[in-house]
Amino acid sequence: MKGVILAGGLGTRLYPLTHATNKHLLPVFDQPMIYYPIQTLVKAGIEDILIVVGGPHAGDFIRVLQNGKEFGIRHLEYAYQNSGDGGIADALKLAADFADDQPITVILGDNCTDADLSKEVKSFKDGAVIFLKDVEDPERFGIAELDPKDPEKVIGIEEKPKSPKSNKAVTGVYIYDSNVFSHIKKIKPSARGQLEITDVNNIYINEGKLRWAELAGFWSDAGTFDSLYRTNVFWARKLLGKKEKDLTTF
Ligand code: DAU
Repeated sequence: MKGVILAGGLGTRLYPLTHATNKHLLPVFDQPMIYYPIQTLVKAGIEDILIVVGGPHAGDFIRVLQNGKEFGIRHLEYAYQNSGDGGIADALKLAADFADDQPITVILGDNCTDADLSKEVKSFKDGAVIFLKDVEDPERFGIAELDPKDPEKVIGIEEKPKSPKSNKAVTGVYIYDSNVFSHIKKIKPSARGQLEITDVNNIYINEGKLRWAELAGFWSDAGTFDSLYRTNVFWARKLLGKKEKDLTTF
């Protein structure tokens, strides 16, 4: 399977840090943020990777990642999102040629997890798979509503709901079949002016083609000061070898 890392957008929530470089190159403990999604894909056996970059510091990625060999990537490509922050689905549509009608695993460039995706990647057949994680601040995420009669089934996803129907956040890890690109063509920009990945996922739900899996282990995005700080603390403690119970407290 091929993999796509979405590292476009402008990272405005992290100004003034992102005046200096791209958000995904900021430090998470001892590594640039984007190393984590790269390692997640490589660990799942994915060796062909496209990184969608954007904004004024896009050239910095080449200096840091070069041709990706150091990470075990066989083939690394870059694409440039020139719409600023046109949205996650807007960035993903740049991967159409790279995907070449094959399924893809997609991860957001600010998602730092120690989860192992291998099982879902290897067993994927068609449709879409999303990965859910229980969170304490559901208003900040895409939130999945499960069928009360059949909790295996997602019946809808709401992006940043004011009154969340659950605390099951849609993480920024997805597996899609090649229909994802025709679904992106069907959606319109949201109230915040973006092509939302949630609208794409809802099309899969309406077609009965979306499954969900629990993302086991630690997961956090790192796109706000608060989440960037928490993500740094987790990885610092994990890599410095603190005991499991110390990883959840500060
Ligand atoms: O992290 C999980 C959440 O990510 C999901 O629960 C939400 O459903 C999903 O919409 C997204 O929400 P955020 O508001 O956190 O997304 P954000 O704008 O921070 O973008 C996350 C990453 O997506 C960013 O680090 C790079 C990529 N991206 C984003 C935008 C807006 C792009 O590549 N291009 C873009 O235009």
